[in-house]
Amino acid sequence: MEQYAIKGGNPLVGEVEIGGAKNAALAILAASVMSEETVTIENLPDVCDINVLIQAMESIGVNITRVDRHTVKINGNHIHGLVIEDDFIKKIRASYYLIGALLGRYKKAEVPLPGGCNIGIRAIDQHIKGFRALGAEVKIEHGFIITEATELKGCHIYMDKVSVGATINVMMAAAMADGTTVIENAAKEPHVVDLANFLNSMGANVKGAGTDVVRIKGVERLHKTTYTIIPDQIEAGTFMVAAAATKGDITIKNVIPKHLESIAAKLLEIGCEIEESDDAIRVVATKTLSHTQLKTLPYPGFPTDMQPQMAVLLGLSTGTSIVTESIFENRFKYVDELTRMGGDINVEGNTAVINGVAKYTGATISSPDLRAGAALVIAALTADGISVVEDINYIERGYEDFHLKLRSLGAQIEKVNNERELRKFRLKVG
Ligand code: EPZ
Repeated sequence: MEQYAIKGGNPLVGEVEIGGAKNAALAILAASVMSEETVTIENLPDVCDINVLIQAMESIGVNITRVDRHTVKINGNHIHGLVIEDDFIKKIRASYYLIGALLGRYKKAEVPLPGGCNIGIRAIDQHIKGFRALGAEVKIEHGFIITEATELKGCHIYMDKVSVGATINVMMAAAMADGTTVIENAAKEPHVVDLANFLNSMGANVKGAGTDVVRIKGVERLHKTTYTIIPDQIEAGTFMVAAAATKGDITIKNVIPKHLESIAAKLLEIGCEIEESDDAIRVVATKTLSHTQLKTLPYPGFPTDMQPQMAVLLGLSTGTSIVTESIFENRFKYVDELTRMGGDINVEGNTAVINGVAKYTGATISSPDLRAGAALVIAALTADGISVVEDINYIERGYEDFHLKLRSLGAQIEKVNNERELRKFRLKVG
């Protein structure tokens, strides 16, 4: 199995380009099958989750042409089935976006219950509530979500929980319904807004995305578009924290600073220097950082997908920090691994009490999920000695060329496939 071999201690310095937002791209790829014409999507991140969804879409007859590494042309007019098979789809949770898209256009869909990172229960009751409110029949049989409707009628839906996935799925299902749908208590994440903008670029009529109330006026058909996906807020945040943790100086390019406000605010609070321009953000950390309190919240609050990275950083800051995870039930799985590197963290329920230590020490550690894996790479980049990060497939689900981008900033990191390559790395870095 591939691993990252890392020798810690180098401050990360230089510039890094951020790719397209994975979580926007997954929704937009799914929604593209709703168009009657060919859709071109640009700034698509080349990561495993995206490529699995593309394979799943091709398996039902969606015609997808890769123009270049980050651009695809999609035509969903010759779909030969509305049943997505297990083998692609159990791997990624975002498979369930195909339900909203296929139900919205074809009034029918069968998709396996979602898989994905094991960071919590990952319920889908709010998705089902929205589909049923629109008039669809929804059943769960043999591990599949089966949904069908003779017609979809606009309605008023109040989400019991703020859910990114449910907001996105219901938005798609409602885009071609008869009449107007209002989603209250909607998620406001940048990728929810990006999907709404994408739907509107195909002729949909979605208003209010990015606020608590989204209004979708159903239209008869959706037409072609060329759409560029927004930069990835979480990839950008991950490099911001890597700059802070390694006491480096990184200019992160191709970002939307507004999307990074909660992350930048926290880094400023603990002692980083931050410079913003229109599409870049620079993070400099020259001194030991201080402790803080942190609670993950739906956007515009501090993102749950940045919680592990921030906890790793706070584990090197002076004093005691408190991190509360309010979105998912099981998002502290990295703590055991960090403890093996010398971290001093105690988890009680959904709260971690973090006592800052002077340094981490290198160890062999395993990535428990996508963002925790990225956080452990950051820990290894700061650590004394050599670390080996296993299960990097999780990390590569959401980060394109992660080790190459880190190496371009001065990190001593290589992807190794076996003991021999690891020995070579150890000899090389000494
Ligand atoms: C999306 O997951 C992202 N995934 C996650 O990113 C992200 O952590 C999450 O939003 C929160 O921002 C994708 O976009 C593919 P939710 P999603 O529905 O849509 C509960 C990453 O690292 N809930 O907003 O699954 C749910 O259990 C991934 O890129 C219900 O109870 O998140 C959770 O506790 C990890 N019922 C909370 O709401 C439902 O019907 C938020 O979930 C739906 C959700």
